[in-house]
Amino acid sequence: MLNEDINISKNEYIERVNTGIPRLDELLSGGLPKNSITLVSGTPGSGKTILCFHFLWEGLNRGERCLYLTSDERVTNIVKQAKEVGFDFTPWIEKGQLKFIYLDLDKSSIHKEMEEEIRNGNYSRIVLDSLTPVSEVPVWVSGVHEIIPSEDVVENKRYPVDSIATTRLHIRRIISMLGKENCTAMVTSEIPEGSRSLSRDTISEFLVDGIILMDIDTTMDRRKLIIRKMRATKHTLKPQDIIITEGGIKFL
Ligand SMILES: Nc1ncnc2c1ncn2[C@@H]1O[C@H](COP(=O)(O)OP(=O)(O)OP(=O)(O)O)[C@@H](O)[C@H]1O
Ligand SMILES: [Mg+2]
Repeated sequence: MLNEDINISKNEYIERVNTGIPRLDELLSGGLPKNSITLVSGTPGSGKTILCFHFLWEGLNRGERCLYLTSDERVTNIVKQAKEVGFDFTPWIEKGQLKFIYLDLDKSSIHKEMEEEIRNGNYSRIVLDSLTPVSEVPVWVSGVHEIIPSEDVVENKRYPVDSIATTRLHIRRIISMLGKENCTAMVTSEIPEGSRSLSRDTISEFLVDGIILMDIDTTMDRRKLIIRKMRATKHTLKPQDIIITEGGIKFL
């Protein structure tokens, strides 16, 4: 192989997926890597969900099928909240191009539901908002590798396993569900105020391809967006000043 071949920039091989915010795409050398999973983390109200709205809106306008998985049962509220910041998802839902799925955390079948929907739905973009409560549902060990609760295991009254190793396996399993071919995903994670971690579970940041950190400086009344990590992408680490308006996230 010629040296020239080896030196070809990786970006020439990686297809990019637009985030829906042109300035963010520029900062990401064209967008998110196709098939990547990006963790959008931040404190409450930092704009994580709105960033996901931009991402799905962009996909819808490109004719892509999109899925929004939420553990918040007030799906209609999310749709209303989106409309407030300029994204009217209703026509897309009616057309069948966008699906909202409520993950009922009291049901032991949520993983199966997610897996089946993702496998059969032919989605190009998936949002899981948020990973935190899903990753905190108790998991049971069944056999050697199966750690996700199934009806059988629950009926047999096995005890939940609570260890870092199990949590890691569980989160890895959830994240790998989103890593379907031709599909690009965003996953949100809540960080408690004042925490220095990149996610609440402190594990998912190592398993994803990218991390976008949404930050609020309440004393200065300012918001920042930081690209903390993006595999195969040259990007700045500099915090970017942003605002949230009735049109969503705007870079200053
Ligand atoms: N029309 C608007 N104009 C200005 N700011 C707005 C507007 N709508 C929402 N916001 C701001 O956006 C925030 C909500 O953003 P978003 O729901 O994306 O946050 P989040 O990080 O997902 O929060 P949570 O952790 O609670 O899910 C509000 O707290 C508010 O500060
Ligand atoms: Mg949110």
